[in-house]
Amino acid sequence: MDPFVGEPYPAAPDTYVIPTYWPVPGVGVIPMNAFVIGSAEPVLVDTGAGALGEQFLAALESIVRPADLRWIWLTHEDRDHTGSLMRVLDAAPRATVLTTFMAVGRILPEHPFPLDRLRLVNPGEKVDVGDRTLAGLRPPLFDSPATVGLFDDRTGALFSSDCFGAPLPTADLAMAPRADDIPPEVLAPAQLAWASVDSSWVTMADPLVLGRAFDQLRRMQPSTVLSSHLPPIHHCLDRAADTLRAAPTTPPVPATTQAELDVLLASMEPHKETADVR
Ligand SMILES: [Fe+2]
Ligand SMILES: [Fe+2]
Repeated sequence: MDPFVGEPYPAAPDTYVIPTYWPVPGVGVIPMNAFVIGSAEPVLVDTGAGALGEQFLAALESIVRPADLRWIWLTHEDRDHTGSLMRVLDAAPRATVLTTFMAVGRILPEHPFPLDRLRLVNPGEKVDVGDRTLAGLRPPLFDSPATVGLFDDRTGALFSSDCFGAPLPTADLAMAPRADDIPPEVLAPAQLAWASVDSSWVTMADPLVLGRAFDQLRRMQPSTVLSSHLPPIHHCLDRAADTLRAAPTTPPVPATTQAELDVLLASMEPHKETADVR
């Protein structure tokens, strides 16, 4: 299976997921979501993978006219979140980017960023998008210090960026419309594995402090939690938060070694042989 952008689907009123499914050999399939909020001033949350830019733009256009987009909220600078940024900025001339100063600083060494199309937003700050307010927040787990998630006060949808993500063992599970439908015995270890790899600092975190961060998120009573790397959470937030409270004391997943990569490459040998035949 090659990576691909899936069919967009609704996750809350006026709120759509643009899913990308990214297979990782030996690991499974990682969902890679961007989102559209159909607010009075439409918002795109993250911009997908650059390698799939054309597919991403086509999926975006099936939900909203890019010319109508007013805001592009970047939860952080990672390439799976900003890959099609320049392409979207071209297609959406009225859109202003919402993100943190540090996220922009981390994008700039790779390519120019139009600072006249930027408005900074930090955790704790709010943005009025016409018919609702989006509140910036720092999710309990994150892989970039530049991260700013958001809470939509009209729908109650909480966009958690990388937090709550999970590599799922099969494409079917990655393509489940709701995280609630993934068997807990599959989801829990996958979320813990993701936490230990993506937020590797978590093994140095105080479990009580991390637990309080999850409690604070739960007290917001989100109607849905939209992770960038998991199907939408509608009813299993308590369970997912309880799972991740254990992340500081869970043995981290070991890094892939060269020997494992060699085995993986050997399993792809037929392609090499084909390529070598003249
Ligand atoms: Fe990330
Ligand atoms: Fe990510």
